[in-house]
Amino acid sequence: MKTRIVIIGGGPSGLLLSQLLHRRGIDSIVLERKTKDYVLSRIRAGVLERGIVKLMEEAGCADRLHAEGIPHDGTLVSYGDEMFRVDFTELTGTPVMVYGQTEVTRDLYEAREKAGGRIDFEVEDVQIHGADSDAPYVTYTVGGEAQRIDCDFIAGCDGFHGVSRQTIPLSVRTEYEKVYPFGWLGILSETPPVSEELIYANSSRGFALCSMRNPQLSRYYIQCSLSDSVNDWTDDAFWQELKRRIPSDVADKLVTGPSIEKSIAPLRSFVTEPMRWGRLFLCGDAAHIVPPTGAKGLNTAASDVHYLHEGLCQFYETGSNEGIDRYSEKALSRVWKAERFSWWFSSLLHRYPDQSPFDLKMQIAELEFLRSNKAAQKAMAENYVGLPY
Ligand code: APR
Ligand code: PHB
Repeated sequence: MKTRIVIIGGGPSGLLLSQLLHRRGIDSIVLERKTKDYVLSRIRAGVLERGIVKLMEEAGCADRLHAEGIPHDGTLVSYGDEMFRVDFTELTGTPVMVYGQTEVTRDLYEAREKAGGRIDFEVEDVQIHGADSDAPYVTYTVGGEAQRIDCDFIAGCDGFHGVSRQTIPLSVRTEYEKVYPFGWLGILSETPPVSEELIYANSSRGFALCSMRNPQLSRYYIQCSLSDSVNDWTDDAFWQELKRRIPSDVADKLVTGPSIEKSIAPLRSFVTEPMRWGRLFLCGDAAHIVPPTGAKGLNTAASDVHYLHEGLCQFYETGSNEGIDRYSEKALSRVWKAERFSWWFSSLLHRYPDQSPFDLKMQIAELEFLRSNKAAQKAMAENYVGLPY
């Protein structure tokens, strides 16, 4: 088989790239290790920057996002019983959109199917060949059958545990990592959200987040120990602990109910450089991970896709290599800013096991400064709604 771009990974990065390229008449084939249902069963975050909303519009799949997504003009931050609001729209002119990553992925699958896009599911033993040559190709098996696709370029959109990053020789790759000494225990519940806007809570018992998917579907998180397992936490224990971490007047309004999903996620910051090796380009989680605190995972994957899509279109439409040659530099420049914001927001809101009394005073002083200073709020808001591409 032959195509222009082989895209490894049928998550949001791979699908968005495939759909955007299709809109410009550039063929691609997507290879996904799991089934479509499995990919759609993964519960992930749900805050969209203006950048990915624009890309979904460009990809022709933003109708449901605009119909069902909830624009948020601001967010709430609490510490103890103190709570203040950061008004994104007042400070930056732009709201964010609350719309689940699962729904984004669902919309992209629908668009690829409608366009007759090729996606091979349940592929195995994917291997990249000749990425550092002018004739790259990918081999894999599907249904026990060996396959080979010759292509011009390969997009590694296969997440943190994928094959693409591992294909780049260690001699060429530099990896940066920070592992946080806690995790997030998250639940999804068919209950009305406790607040119209998200609440990011710093409390003496640790971090908590009150989020939502729609007026009948809420998403809550609490900071937990990395040694915890989901079985250690009954729904009731979760609700009791959440109430202890948010302002008491908010806790009094909290509607509780059975969880329909419950999981623990570790927190990590990770970046690999470069994000290109010959004709192989890394996008999204294949190249970088952020702690979920700033909701930057999907949004930063989308900016990668933007830069790569631009570079590939320039290559096919003008013959210029400028865009693809500058892809890694451009993508990493924005990735590191998203890493910094996610690290800063995580440091501001979580309690660390080895935190000294002085460290705690620093955290409170930073929260006090953010509460009382518009310039500090503007800096936070600009990062939260998404820095320009
Ligand atoms: N071959 C084919 N597919 C693979 C392989 C492989 N060897 N390895 C992994 N995959 C698939 C996974 O099954 C997954 O569906 O690649 C896909 C990668 O998708 P994501 O992990 O969702 O990564 P990405 O598309 O970059 O999206 C980033 O996802 O994890 C969140 O917070 C993250 O929001 C961010 C977003
Ligand atoms: C979510 O709704 O799942 C969510 C929202 C904001 C975050 C992280 C997760 O920062």
